[in-house]
Amino acid sequence: MQEKSKKVYLETYGCQMNVADSEIILGLLDEKGYDLTDDMSMADVILVNTCSVREHAEQRVYSRLGEFKSAKRKKPEVIVGLLGCMAERLRESLTDKNAQGVGHIVDVIVGPDEYRKLPDLLSQSWHGEKGIAVQLSRVETYDDVTPLRTNGISAWISVMRGCDKFCSFCVVPFTRGRERNRSFSNIVSEAESLSKRGFKEVTLLGQNVNSYRDGKYDFADLINAVSLVDPSMRIRFMTSHPQDMSDKLIDTIAGGNNICKYIHLPVQSGSDKILQLMDRNYDRAHYLNLIRKIRSAIPKVTLSTDIITGFPTETDEDHKQTLEMMKDVRYDGAFTFKYSPREHTPSFRMGDDVSDEIKTHRINEIIELQNSIANEKNIRHIGESMTILIEGESKKSSDEMHGRTDGNKMVIVPCGDCKTGDYVDVTITRANSATLFGTVQQQSRVEVV
Ligand code: 5AD
Ligand code: SF4
Repeated sequence: MQEKSKKVYLETYGCQMNVADSEIILGLLDEKGYDLTDDMSMADVILVNTCSVREHAEQRVYSRLGEFKSAKRKKPEVIVGLLGCMAERLRESLTDKNAQGVGHIVDVIVGPDEYRKLPDLLSQSWHGEKGIAVQLSRVETYDDVTPLRTNGISAWISVMRGCDKFCSFCVVPFTRGRERNRSFSNIVSEAESLSKRGFKEVTLLGQNVNSYRDGKYDFADLINAVSLVDPSMRIRFMTSHPQDMSDKLIDTIAGGNNICKYIHLPVQSGSDKILQLMDRNYDRAHYLNLIRKIRSAIPKVTLSTDIITGFPTETDEDHKQTLEMMKDVRYDGAFTFKYSPREHTPSFRMGDDVSDEIKTHRINEIIELQNSIANEKNIRHIGESMTILIEGESKKSSDEMHGRTDGNKMVIVPCGDCKTGDYVDVTITRANSATLFGTVQQQSRVEVV
């Protein structure tokens, strides 16, 4: 078969869902005999899995496309495929040579629900036919596709696709379509097979995992069942919407020994006026009550959040309320974004009246406050004993390894004789706002983390 010896190079942008999708894409291509390469110059097929959530993410892909163009100049037979969320937005541009040059460079455009068509579209493109598949689906979950995982320690399992929340700023419901769930039993089987293959951690993924449902099972049932597969395998999940975070789920996280005590709960803003304009369906009081419930059920929980600054009509007073919210909750981490207007979303029609200068000023204040809170919280861990899962060599020094606590905090330790995939007990000796540093106590045979 012609495809047997073809080599694929794939770059992934955006969220963890895209990382998981890329593994599905590679799984589908692997079945057809494609080989994976991490050297673009060796590739017969260059694929880019894209993100549309903010303008900046799209700009990065456009500049990469420029580089793929020169790869194509050197090797004209190479096929370039644009996959994922941007595919939905660029559906017309494949044939339009003026649309930011995409038509010149890209041979194949495939949206998030059409990856099964990719092998056929690639085959056709060897014969000079450009291909596009961007239909969104109400049923596609890739439930039966085995993802090609290249990291043997931590695995993503996507449990649901799409989103029905329609937050007014967000393009995801338009690029990823309606919410749909994978089968409960297949997810549990996938976790069983990962445990047999020696994986140490799985993260259950979805745009809004709290609304997972398969028949009588909800997300709390799912995470509980997955946690029972292997007591030495850590279970994480993301992302949760504050509207759907149930007491049952909080209790399940509290009770599961190997369910990580870490919750990412995007707040987006601390102002009720802005939350309403964002169509988030909760207010400040609801959110704070939820945090209180979580903290009383799971005292050692670590919490992170997403914050958007400069949403249309956001005033200094709204911004102050976001800062107050951060002081009230005291997050361990926050992902902060300047509002980016996205075509077709409801808030697009509201304009973009907060200047970039003000957005920059506000985001800097948010980051500064968050750093000081995280620093204070991390310093309190000095002297504490923690179990970490070693993820690999530290980026800064080959004499050190990095690992993660149950609460998702990064810890750097001297190498000793620990290796990737080991659980080790460490004593924290030093900390800053982003990282803990420690020494290894002993090789741990942790059954329950
Ligand atoms: N502008 C800025 N940030 C956004 N996000 C989603 N849409 C936008 C947008 N239009 C952020 C939200 C979300 C995270 C994944 O990305 O904070 O939780
Ligand atoms: Fe976007 Fe809101 Fe859905 Fe998250 S919950 S993906 S922010 S629409």
